Amino acid sequence: MTRLQPRQLDENPFSLLADDWMLITAGGPSDHNTMTASWGGVGHMWGKDVCWCVVRPTRCTFDYMERSRFHTLCFLDEDHRGALNFCGTRSGRDTPSKSAAAGLTAIEGPEPGSTIFREARMSIICRKIYTQDLDPTHFLDPSLQTFYPHQDYHRMYMGEIVAILRQ
Ligand SMILES: Cc1cc2nc3c(=O)[nH]c(=O)nc-3n(C[C@H](O)[C@H](O)[C@H](O)COP(=O)(O)O)c2cc1C
Repeated sequence: MTRLQPRQLDENPFSLLADDWMLITAGGPSDHNTMTASWGGVGHMWGKDVCWCVVRPTRCTFDYMERSRFHTLCFLDEDHRGALNFCGTRSGRDTPSKSAAAGLTAIEGPEPGSTIFREARMSIICRKIYTQDLDPTHFLDPSLQTFYPHQDYHRMYMGEIVAILRQ
């Protein structure tokens, strides 16, 4: 695996998120949870290169995100679309060893207690630096409310990029 600096990233963030999707993973290889996500972004904030993602409090992954200093964003190629569909429709609450059941191999990331997957073509390791719950009183476009029939507003996690690993 090659370690990239954020400025060496030559991929389109819109395709990465909206088309490819990613796995958000928190916890260590022996006790972690992962879920598919397609909302989030990359950017620059407080002088740091960051990624942000959003997790509803109803997700099993939410509890792991809350407990973890680090989380990872893993991108897989098209051969693994089945694993992404699996991790996006099954909950770790009722699927023991969810990542293994999806056919993924959990390995320790470069930060202790972080998990990446051997099958990932690119993994971004993030240090949690900021969280904020989406607040519907700030929805300026009323159509945004249609995403929340159960009022389970996402928590946004901003993570400082500490490493990018590419196969
Ligand atoms: C393409 C796709 C994108 C998704 N994006 C998100 C997201 O950005 N945030 C979120 O909370 N859930 C998202 N989900 C839903 C979770 O992946 C799904 O509810 C998953 O089963 C949660 O697993 P968990 O309970 O083990 O955490 C997405 C699902 C799919 C299929």
